[in-house]
Amino acid sequence: MTTFDLVIRNGMIVTATDKYIADLGINGSKIVEIGTNLQGHETVDATGLLVMPGGIDGHCHIEQEEADGTIHEDDFVSATGSALLGGTTTAVCFASHVPGRGLVEQFEAYREKGANSRIDFAIHQIITRTDDQTIHDEIPIVAERGAAGLKVFMTYDDFHLADGQFLQVLEAARKSRIIVSVHCENYDAIRHLILRHLEEGRTEPHGHATSRPSSVEREATYRAMTLSELVDQEIQIFHVSCPEVAAEISRAQSRGVKVVAETCPHYLTLTEDALKRDNFEGTKYICSPPLRTQAQQEGMWSYLRSGVISIISSDHCGYTFDGAVGKGRHGRDADFSLIPNGMPGLGTRLPVFYDAAINSGKLDLTDFVRLTATTPAKRYGLYPEKGTIAPGSDADLVLWDPNRVVTITNDLFQSNIDYTPYEGLTVRGWPTKVFLRGTLAMEEGKLVAMPGAGKFLKVRPS
Ligand code: URP
Ligand code: ZN
Ligand code: ZN
Repeated sequence: MTTFDLVIRNGMIVTATDKYIADLGINGSKIVEIGTNLQGHETVDATGLLVMPGGIDGHCHIEQEEADGTIHEDDFVSATGSALLGGTTTAVCFASHVPGRGLVEQFEAYREKGANSRIDFAIHQIITRTDDQTIHDEIPIVAERGAAGLKVFMTYDDFHLADGQFLQVLEAARKSRIIVSVHCENYDAIRHLILRHLEEGRTEPHGHATSRPSSVEREATYRAMTLSELVDQEIQIFHVSCPEVAAEISRAQSRGVKVVAETCPHYLTLTEDALKRDNFEGTKYICSPPLRTQAQQEGMWSYLRSGVISIISSDHCGYTFDGAVGKGRHGRDADFSLIPNGMPGLGTRLPVFYDAAINSGKLDLTDFVRLTATTPAKRYGLYPEKGTIAPGSDADLVLWDPNRVVTITNDLFQSNIDYTPYEGLTVRGWPTKVFLRGTLAMEEGKLVAMPGAGKFLKVRPS
């Protein structure tokens, strides 16, 4: 009888399609057998636990450089530690495209930064310019070097592309066989609304939500899908915040447009009322698109069930509350338009989404795995090495106690970011052990994987 390096015994194996009790036999970094009564040199008893593929977070801003040279405060060591503490073993993060530097240079520099990662990582390449060098010379090179996708913004002063530029990127992506992910909000409409707010003295954090209504997201989403249809290039709509946008995507999918959609736990669990908190606290909840209403939040679930939205990512973009380049970088009386956009969420993604989706009965465990691991792995060319439990797959596994009740506090995630938007939220369901390629990486809230344990995942063009 074979003796495996490691056997995970008697857990409830959950994949995107199945749930069953079995043993996993692991040799080195790979799952090699699924069966019963397997023997191992080392055995972990998973009785009463769920055994799921390690989470794959397809949208994480980590140690990213901004146009003004500021570097995101959450670096690879800190952010990927939080990821493991929350059950995630792969992150797809973003190489910048700041003024004055070429795409390939920034892609390579970012890959080197990732050498500190505790988990495996792939890279989206942001595109903010469409000069000949970027479009004709450099996009093919970053695609060939394994970028998971290109990322385009339709808003933000330093990032947004006009429609003609977006079409150039779509054509280049089609040639290089790489997916384009899009932040959909109408830049000019938001500028207009921000100016109106400031003229009227509506400078409080909640103005962020009212100056970016769902119509600006819906219009940009429709436009992005229409432009992608023109050149027959697959796109992914990032961070869908509300059912009005999801309905637009559903219509496009029905007429055959190649579009996939992602949402994030915060759009399913928090509302715009959080931006009304006083003492500058509302800024902790400033992200784009903004948080929406309770009714909009409730309207999202049917689009998760139907598959219109097929990915749950964190859009982790941590700015400290108190740090020098965080939410207060322009002072505590800055108007909402000056507050950096984004919230931390890498560590909390799985527990918060699990609690909201599974304990409420809104989704099944197989849906949870499909949305948080399997579909992201497929979209980013990582499947079947990542995102499932099968012979030949990497032994990236999370052992999950469905009955553990935890009240979330920021210190659980050992992060450089000094707050979590979920402080005080009590959830049921928590990761107890995480394995990265067959090696224990997290156990009972203690990090085992060291910086550098993760590796760069070179994505194949599809
Ligand atoms: O507010 C957000 N989402 N910040 C991160 C950057 C982005 O738009 O994805
Ligand atoms: Zn975005
Ligand atoms: Zn983002």
